Amino acid sequence: MSLKMTSLLCLVFLHLMMGAVGNEWSVKYSKHLCGVKGSTVVMEATYTHSTSVNVTNRFWFINPVKGVEPTDLRNEPGYSGRVEYLGDKQNHFSLRLSDVKKSDEHMYCFRFNTTGKGYMGYPGIILRVTGK
Ligand SMILES: *[C@@H]1O[C@H](CO)[C@@H](O)[C@H](O)[C@H]1NC(C)=O
Ligand SMILES: *[C@@H]1O[C@H](CO)[C@@H](O)[C@H](O)[C@H]1NC(C)=O
Repeated sequence: MSLKMTSLLCLVFLHLMMGAVGNEWSVKYSKHLCGVKGSTVVMEATYTHSTSVNVTNRFWFINPVKGVEPTDLRNEPGYSGRVEYLGDKQNHFSLRLSDVKKSDEHMYCFRFNTTGKGYMGYPGIILRVTGK
């Protein structure tokens, strides 16, 4: 094996190691969700990021569009007063949406900004609402 090849493999291995110690960026969600009209639903996200940055803000939003800055769900028309965020220091951040309506049927995504880059999890959670 050439020296060049060996050092390349070392580099790849180093990258894998760094991932293993928590330098990866990710968002994981709870399962897709079905809610009864008028009830309260909870969507959960768990995220990881490079250890060299700090999280500056976290929020949920609906219907991601490529290249468009997402709007915090709390500022989305029709959601006022129905959105509650529950976060902890273990990188969990959930959305509690009350008085669910048929018009709430969207894809819900989680986004966080850091002192470095921002990151969002795609695809998110699809909410279906049943009942009249
Ligand atoms: C992140 O926060 C820690 C603790 O408050 C601080 O020491 C560190 O400098 C911060 N890092 C960045 C990149 O802001
Ligand atoms: C954080 O994210 C929001 C939404 O994507 C964006 O508008 C904002 O500029 C970002 N940066 C900071 C520092 O909040």
